[in-house]
Amino acid sequence: MAVTPPVALVPVPAEEYDEFFAMLATYHAELDTYDPHAEDWDAEVHRRAVLDDMEGREVSWVLADGERAGLLMVRVLPDWPDESREVASIAEFYVAPPFRRRGVGREAIVALLADHRARGTFEVEAGILALNEPARAFWASLGFEVRNIVTARRP
Ligand SMILES: CC(C)(COP(=O)(O)OP(=O)(O)OC[C@H]1O[C@@H](n2cnc3c(N)ncnc32)[C@H](O)[C@@H]1OP(=O)(O)O)[C@@H](O)C(=O)NCCC(=O)NCCS
Repeated sequence: MAVTPPVALVPVPAEEYDEFFAMLATYHAELDTYDPHAEDWDAEVHRRAVLDDMEGREVSWVLADGERAGLLMVRVLPDWPDESREVASIAEFYVAPPFRRRGVGREAIVALLADHRARGTFEVEAGILALNEPARAFWASLGFEVRNIVTARRP
């Protein structure tokens, strides 16, 4: 069995945003392979949209043995309709191919869950593309349950 390296979540400082968004673009190119309706990805438009709307966003590097192995973007916002409690939505989560299947993703999410347990967050959620079987298996292995399914079509 592969040995899991020590894993840490480290906030991304603003001076490393270029590298963060570059890794994010690589991740989205991979996600597009699971989305038959994927449209051309404009990394610059996406970057501006994220940076213009930072309320509740927490962006981290996933470090494995001190090496940059992936990224995590979480959005922590008041729940609805009970705004007295918070929900953390995992917006982006990526472990780069050389680091996969060694428990790096698992350890990163275990650390995230411990952080939110300590903060009193009500729930942590993650959206998954329906065809992304590895991600479905990953979140299920961590105890995340399928709660709802989004359907869509062109009008
Ligand atoms: C999904 C992803 C984050 C998993 O990261 P990882 O570090 O490889 O995951 P781990 O090694 O911690 O795996 C933990 C468990 O998840 C499940 N799992 C992970 N990858 C899997 C795969 N490709 N196929 C089936 N099960 C998988 C297994 O149960 C695994 O435990 P095991 O290795 O003991 O069998 C990574 O493959 C990735 O970044 N993929 C591309 C981006 C993506 O889909 N992100 C999620 C968006 S919702």
